[in-house]
Amino acid sequence: MSAEETISKIAEDVSVCTKCALHESRKKSVPGDGPATAEIMFIGEGPGFHENEQGHPFVGASGKFLDQLLAQADVTREDVFIANVVKCRPPGNRDPLPDELTACDVYLEAQIEAINPSIVVTLGRFSMNKFFPGAKISAVHGQMQKVGGRFVIPMFHPAAALHQAALKPSILGDFAKLPDQLNEARIALGKPAIVRRRKLEEAPDEKSQQMSLF
Ligand code: URA
Ligand code: SF4
Repeated sequence: MSAEETISKIAEDVSVCTKCALHESRKKSVPGDGPATAEIMFIGEGPGFHENEQGHPFVGASGKFLDQLLAQADVTREDVFIANVVKCRPPGNRDPLPDELTACDVYLEAQIEAINPSIVVTLGRFSMNKFFPGAKISAVHGQMQKVGGRFVIPMFHPAAALHQAALKPSILGDFAKLPDQLNEARIALGKPAIVRRRKLEEAPDEKSQQMSLF
């Protein structure tokens, strides 16, 4: 099976999954969106109200903010895969329970294996705990660490930054570092570096500034 076929199969399995109690109240499951060839995979917490209605991740208020954050990183939704640690909405947006996280992890693991991204960005503490149990997000956010055959960067959840203005500069700064971290990760994994779109666009400008020094 190609990575794309595997990703579609996981989405089908998730849509009829009854492995935990969250299936009872879900309207639409939210398996995750994005290309099976994505270099960066984002992992959030779980579907909220709007995600449960629409079947897509980060389509509500935190999704709007995530779009701004992606722009900081010079990427669009079409470039990245976005998933969650639980694929069905916890009622009233409560935290996912340990048995729900365990039950749903098989799907997340299968997605990571199929996509094989160079970088996983965890958004919030539940996805961070999967890779760095017991870590403190305030201490480790934005720091890239090798985990198995890829790199993982823990970041604040966009919703947390929406509710606590003090976190906003941190999360914006962490996203702005992502293009350089991606190249660092790719080089460490033996892949060629990527030339940034924005850098290419900026290049003539930089040149004319340099020229004007003479
Ligand atoms: N918050 C999440 O963690 N995931 C979503 O899909 C939407 C909001
Ligand atoms: Fe299945 Fe995950 Fe939905 Fe639970 S949250 S029913 S494990 S897809």
